[in-house]
Amino acid sequence: MKNKFYVTTPIYYVNDAPHIGHAYTTILADVLTRFHRALGDDSFFLTGLDEHGQKVQQAAEKRGLSPKAHCDELAPRFSELWKTLGISNDDFIRTTESRHIQVVQAILQKVYDKGDIYQKEYEGIYSVAEERFITEKEAESGQFREVKVIKEKNYFFKMSSYQDRLIRYIEEHPGFIRPDHRKNEMLGFLRQPLGDLCISRPKARLSWGIEIPFDKDYVTYVWFDALINYISAIGYLSDEVKFKRLWPGTHLIGKDILTTHSIYWTTMLFSLDLPLPDTIFAHGWWLMGESKMSKSLGNVVKPLDLIERHGVDAVRYYLMSEMTLGADANFTPENFIKRYNSDLANDFGNLLNRVSGLIGKNHGGIIPELGIPTLADEEVAGAGRALGPKVEALIREYKVDEAINEVMNLIRQVNKYMEAQAPWKLAKTDLPAAGRVLYIATEALRLSAVFLKSVMPTKTVQVLEILGALDSGSFWGELKPGVKLPSFPPLFPRIEIDKQS
Ligand code: MSP
Repeated sequence: MKNKFYVTTPIYYVNDAPHIGHAYTTILADVLTRFHRALGDDSFFLTGLDEHGQKVQQAAEKRGLSPKAHCDELAPRFSELWKTLGISNDDFIRTTESRHIQVVQAILQKVYDKGDIYQKEYEGIYSVAEERFITEKEAESGQFREVKVIKEKNYFFKMSSYQDRLIRYIEEHPGFIRPDHRKNEMLGFLRQPLGDLCISRPKARLSWGIEIPFDKDYVTYVWFDALINYISAIGYLSDEVKFKRLWPGTHLIGKDILTTHSIYWTTMLFSLDLPLPDTIFAHGWWLMGESKMSKSLGNVVKPLDLIERHGVDAVRYYLMSEMTLGADANFTPENFIKRYNSDLANDFGNLLNRVSGLIGKNHGGIIPELGIPTLADEEVAGAGRALGPKVEALIREYKVDEAINEVMNLIRQVNKYMEAQAPWKLAKTDLPAAGRVLYIATEALRLSAVFLKSVMPTKTVQVLEILGALDSGSFWGELKPGVKLPSFPPLFPRIEIDKQS
C-alpha cells in the first residue's frame, strides 16, 4: 500500500557539539525514511538547527561575533556529520533563514488577529539557563540554574483555552503520542489547569530572536519560533501544494521535549486550524552509566570517534539495534563491541565468508542452482517469504530494533540450517544437494542485505554487489544462480578487545 511519510527530527541547538544522542534521532529518522522510500511511500525527511535564543547570543558575544556569524560558523558541524553518517534528509532548515522567519511572523500575526495572543504584566521566576519561566515547585527542586525573579510585560498565547480539546484529541487518537506510557504522562500533566504560554522576550533583555510583527520591542520566545520549523520548511503559507502533500507528519523527539511538542505545538496548531501531527514519538535517552549523556555533564560520546574506529554502518547498526522502542539505553564501548561481534562479525559476516568459501571451493565460485527444494530448504524459504510483511509491519510501528531482530533471526536460522545440512560434507557425495543448500543460504544473505539496506547503506550494497544482486528486490527467490563470486575481504572483521585500549 502506498502511503505518505513525512518525518522530522528536533532541530538541534546550533551551539551544542553534536553527540550520540543527536545522531541517534537523526539516524532513526533516516532508517525509517529509507524503509518507507523502499516501500514506495511518498517520503520526506526534515532536520535542521535551532539558532535563536539567549545561549546563542551569549556565546556569540563571548567570541566577539554577531550571532548570525556565530551560527554560520557552527552549522556545518551538524550538516557535515550528517553527510558522514549517510543521512539522506530531503531538507535542512535553519531558523535564521528568511523562509522560516517570514512564516513565524505571519503565524504570530494570524494568531494575534484571531485574539489568541494578549499582553500582560507578569512577575515570575525565570531560569536563564533554561530560557523560560519556571514554577515555584521547579525552583525549589534546585535543578534549575541561574534563577531570578523577573517582572515584565510580555505577550501570552492562550494555550489554556485549548486544554479540553487537546485532552479529548489525545484520548480519541491512540497512536498520536507514542509510546503509550508517554501518552499517559501527558494526560496526567493535563489534569492540572494549563496556563497560557509566554511567547515574547523584551528586546532590552534578549535581542537575538524573531521580531514580533505587532510590537517591535519584542522578539519571539525560542520554542514558539522553533516548533514552527516543521511547517515553514514544507511550504506553509508559501507553497500550499507541497504543504498539503506532506502535512501532517511524524515528529521523532527525545522524551525531555515531549511537553513542548505535545502541548505547546498542538495548541498552536489548533489556533491555526491546522491538523495535528500524525504521531509524536518520544524515544528514551542514551545513558552513560546512570546519567544522561549531555554536554553539561561532559560525558558525551562523539560520533566521529566511533565512526573512525568502526565505520559508519557499524555505528548505525549499533544505535538502531541496541535501543528498544521508547526505553533508555546504556552506551558502553563493551556493549558496542559485543553487539558488533555477535551480530555482524559472527552471525552475518561468518555466514557470508563460509558460504562464499564453500562456493569457491566446491562449485567453481559460481552460485549454484536451487534444483528441487527439500522440506528443510522450504522451512528456510518460508521464513524468508514471511520476513517482508513482518519487517514492513514493524517499521510502520517505528519498531526498528524489532525489525532488525527479525532479519537477524533469519540469519541465525540459516546458520543452524548450515550446521544441520553440512554442505561441506554433502559436496563429497552429492554435489547438487550441496549446491542447493548453498543457494538457500546465499539467498537468505541477499534478502537480509536488502532488508538491512536502510540501516547499513554501505555494507549491504557491498554484499549485494558481491552476489551480483544489486538491483534485486525484497521477494524470496530473486537470487540468480550462475553468478561468479569475486574474492573480497571480510566485510565485518571481528573487533579484538585488546585493540580498543
Ligand atoms: N532545540 C531543541 C529542540 C527544538 S525542536 C522544535 C532541543 N535541542 S537539543 O539539541 O538540546 O536536543 C535535541 C534532541 O536531542 C532532543 O530530542 C533530546 O532528547 C535529544 N538528546 C539529547 N541528549 C540525548 C541523549 N543523551 N540521548 C538521546 N537523545 C538525547 O531540545
